[in-house]
Amino acid sequence: MADIVTVTKRALQPLNSRRPWVDAGMIERTRGAAHLGAAVRLVGPRGEFLAWGLWSGEPRFPIRVISWEPDTTLDPSFFHAAAAAAVQRRVGLPLTPETDAVRLIFGEADGLPGLVADRYGEYAVLTREGRFLDPYLIAIASGLTESASLAGVLLRDDAGNRVLAGVAPPETLTIREGELRFEIDPHEGQKTGWFCDQRQNRLRVAAYAGGAEVLDVFCYTGGFSVAALRSGASSARLLDSSAAALALAQRNLTLNDCPEAATPERCDAMDRLRSLAKEGLSFDLVILDPPKLQPPHGKADRAEAAYLSLQGLAMKLVRPGGRLATFSCSGAMSRARFDGVVAKAAGARPCRVLERLAQPPDHPILLSHPKSEYLTGLIVELG
Ligand SMILES: C[S@@+](CC[C@H](N)C(=O)[O-])C[C@H]1O[C@@H](n2cnc3c(N)ncnc32)[C@H](O)[C@@H]1O
Repeated sequence: MADIVTVTKRALQPLNSRRPWVDAGMIERTRGAAHLGAAVRLVGPRGEFLAWGLWSGEPRFPIRVISWEPDTTLDPSFFHAAAAAAVQRRVGLPLTPETDAVRLIFGEADGLPGLVADRYGEYAVLTREGRFLDPYLIAIASGLTESASLAGVLLRDDAGNRVLAGVAPPETLTIREGELRFEIDPHEGQKTGWFCDQRQNRLRVAAYAGGAEVLDVFCYTGGFSVAALRSGASSARLLDSSAAALALAQRNLTLNDCPEAATPERCDAMDRLRSLAKEGLSFDLVILDPPKLQPPHGKADRAEAAYLSLQGLAMKLVRPGGRLATFSCSGAMSRARFDGVVAKAAGARPCRVLERLAQPPDHPILLSHPKSEYLTGLIVELG
């Protein structure tokens, strides 16, 4: 039998607005043992049904809502169907450029909190935040396999990756984004192996690359540089701290016939930006796609200061009239806040926004869960 959680009056509005995270302060009383992953029936102060959830094991947000329908049974067939529905939702999405690297499950936006599944050709790679969906991962993998005709589903896990369905993907896979080809490492690469959230942004940024000398900071496996060089950039300098990422970047440059004009370099990005400025170098197009600098809870000022100094260092390397394509993948960095950081870094230098960039439609934003909006970007022209 499911636990029953009675929420406070104050919790009614957020729950009725379909906010999927229940914070500890919203809980009035609990009947049941509150075991990690156990089902919870959420009811209002008068005992009225509100939602079904799972205990998350996280003290600040102890319950994640899974269903708003009263006659739901949280069993394997429910989760199998939820995965299949997520796949169905992607059918016909205008993914530009055409690709076989697609996010099939995007957590809360697909009703499967904290879970991500990325499709790479015939395989899917899963990551998750928390362990509360673990009893249902096999059912989810089977829903994905059936509806997306996959050969295998791999779960990435610090304690050891696991094949959840079918067969393990090979050590590396080659995916396509339009004309471009990229080798990815589904077993050890960062996140699930590839940043498909930047797919359409790679194209947008590459549209400014004709004849440009490009600096690609935090290049990972070279996605932006390959797109820029194939769009006519005269050179690209790639910076990243990960040797494994740079090795794949080198392979991707070769795979796309543009290795000669590229210089991958392993370094700390901040240090290298400073030393490039000291060397008197500058570029027509600088791309800045750092990892999440914002800590999830609190310490916002410190993270904002880190973004600010990064923008400042990058801007010093942009020639007058040149462009900076700059990104934040931190949900805590709203568009308005990011604009403010970029404006402050530009100081007295004219800074014109040419394009605003965002996450693509296979990473939909659930409006009742603002945290699902995490990727924001700007292409600015600096005077
Ligand atoms: C968000 S990913 C970049 C994704 C990439 N632009 C793409 O489109 O595939 C961030 C990258 O920053 C690199 N990184 C993290 N800290 C770094 C540092 N201090 N200096 C240089 N690179 C760093 C990581 O290795 C990772 O490849």
